[in-house]
Amino acid sequence: MRLTSLLSALGRKVVPAAGVRAPDGEDWVAPQGSYLTINAADRHLDPDLYPDPTRYDAFRFAREAQEAQQDGGQETNQEYLRARRLGMTSTSKDFLAFGHGWHACPGRFLVEQMLKMLMAYMLMHYDIEYLPS
Ligand code: HEM
Repeated sequence: MRLTSLLSALGRKVVPAAGVRAPDGEDWVAPQGSYLTINAADRHLDPDLYPDPTRYDAFRFAREAQEAQQDGGQETNQEYLRARRLGMTSTSKDFLAFGHGWHACPGRFLVEQMLKMLMAYMLMHYDIEYLPS
């Protein structure tokens, strides 16, 4: 989800007649009828946010969440927020796979439950082993 984010493929059509102006003083205007999209890869592949960003690391988020919990039991707002933003359904400006803000994906809670049920079913009904490399 982090490496091939759906969000970048979703465009938003500019509706206002005056277009959409860059919010931070940059000098561009997207005219009415054009499409804007988000460059999620810029965040998702940033090595300052995700060390060694293209490597598959199954416990990348779980490890950090565990560390955040151990670092003082989430006693401060910062620690609490750090732990919370690592949840499977959490969205943030640094993790955009489900979008972020008002229109963030509402189906992500269903996806979380389904993936957990799938995982539980596999563990209960199958023996799993590594493929020979
Ligand atoms: C892993 C699976 C899924 C991924 C990665 C995903 C990702 C996304 C993304 C990136 C958006 C756009 C958010 C934005 O515009 O900021 C979105 C929107 C949406 N998703 Fe999902 N989605 C998933 C599963 C689902 C499921 C299972 C449902 C329904 C049961 C669902 C329902 C929706 C709806 C209704 C929106 C539009 C929300 C709005 O515009 O307010 N999604 N999703």
